[in-house]
Amino acid sequence: MKLMVIGGGGREHAIIKKLNENPSVEKIYALPGNAGMKNDAECIAIGAKDIPAIVDFAKKNSIDFAVVAPDDPLVLGCVDELSKIGIPCFGPDSKAAIIEGSKVFSKDLMKKYGIPTATYETFSDEDTALAYLDTVTAPIVVKADGLALGKGVIIAQTIDEAKEAVFSMMRDKVFGESGSHIVIEEFLTGPEVSVLAFTDGKTLVPMVSSMDHKRALDGDKGLNTGGMGTIAPNPYYTNDIAAECMEKIFIPTMNAMNAEGRKFKGCLYFGLMLTPNGPKVIEYNCRFGDPETQVVLPLLKSDLLNIMLAVANESLDASMVEFSNESACCVVMASNGYPQKYNTGFEITIEDGVDAQVYIAGAKNGENGSILTAGGRVLGVTAVADTLGNAVSKAYTEVKKVNFDNAFYRKDIGKRALAALAAE
Ligand code: AMP
Ligand code: GLY
Repeated sequence: MKLMVIGGGGREHAIIKKLNENPSVEKIYALPGNAGMKNDAECIAIGAKDIPAIVDFAKKNSIDFAVVAPDDPLVLGCVDELSKIGIPCFGPDSKAAIIEGSKVFSKDLMKKYGIPTATYETFSDEDTALAYLDTVTAPIVVKADGLALGKGVIIAQTIDEAKEAVFSMMRDKVFGESGSHIVIEEFLTGPEVSVLAFTDGKTLVPMVSSMDHKRALDGDKGLNTGGMGTIAPNPYYTNDIAAECMEKIFIPTMNAMNAEGRKFKGCLYFGLMLTPNGPKVIEYNCRFGDPETQVVLPLLKSDLLNIMLAVANESLDASMVEFSNESACCVVMASNGYPQKYNTGFEITIEDGVDAQVYIAGAKNGENGSILTAGGRVLGVTAVADTLGNAVSKAYTEVKKVNFDNAFYRKDIGKRALAALAAE
């Protein structure tokens, strides 16, 4: 089979490596991919949001199956357009991708169908939003409606700070049209868990749980980033909590989307907070998380392509999805300065015999076959071991064998999870 994977980060590299395990895969094209995946896929210089060019490429190259990984092309209707020309896809159509594309939509969906989430109000008018803020207490959370590169969420510690967030989103439009509508919601507390699930709209099969580390610096300090590392499984996510989430959140969400005429097919991401009042949804994503995918897929024992094909043709069955009992830890190596200003263009070297997966997120070709850094998050080093403790120490041993100038990584990925395990 000839496959096409849309996207170009560490998540896509992990997906491509896993898809390559299936012997019927002859070729994988990555659009655009990055130079760090050139041994695993042929990279084609077409941007993930350039849907007409993607469709044209698929037609000309007789693509058998497409995986659309990032949020933007999903929300923009990449799957809709590929489906129109008869190419089966893994990923939701634009009607279903709205579950991530609009926070107002997802909050209203949860309210309508009784799915636990933070209480909230939505606003499309600045004065009404400001007046509402005079009636509540801080901390309070202000969210831009649309996709905002993961930056559209402000946790305001004071009401003045919340008002500033409203000004910047609604008046100054720092997130563009994403901020014309906003959500103001209750501040929740508790451990966070990411659960990705395969669903074909009839059956939903959760993957192993994980924990992201979003802040740039050790001790969860510094700015929010796309994610500086992950561990799986998440020790806070017990079997009892998993059963409760399945019954009160996952299945009701799948059913709610069907009832709205927005059948969701693909990977549905549940960002959960385990609050003192039970698990609640913080956010939905319409796709695999990054870097969650970099710990979840290495633990998947089953064939990823078979699962994806079953999702596409609506024949998914729980027996197709089996995870190992091991643990995984991914340490993200970033360019010093990320998520703000940073320099790129440094050669990436990987020592022979690294006992880990190295998923490249941001690299370009250098001279003589070398690869150079080309982004904020450069790569993820994922180690798998029998226990979480061993996976964490192995990831930190192996990360030292991957080098580039100006590299920076957190030293405490998994620390909180290990403390939780020790307290059990
Ligand atoms: P996002 O950029 O949408 O992934 O959200 C960023 C982070 O903001 C989440 O991972 C949570 O840590 C935090 N967050 C979002 N909503 C809430 C909330 N209602 N209460 C507390 N924290 C929140
Ligand atoms: N790691 C969070 C996300 O993919 O949105």
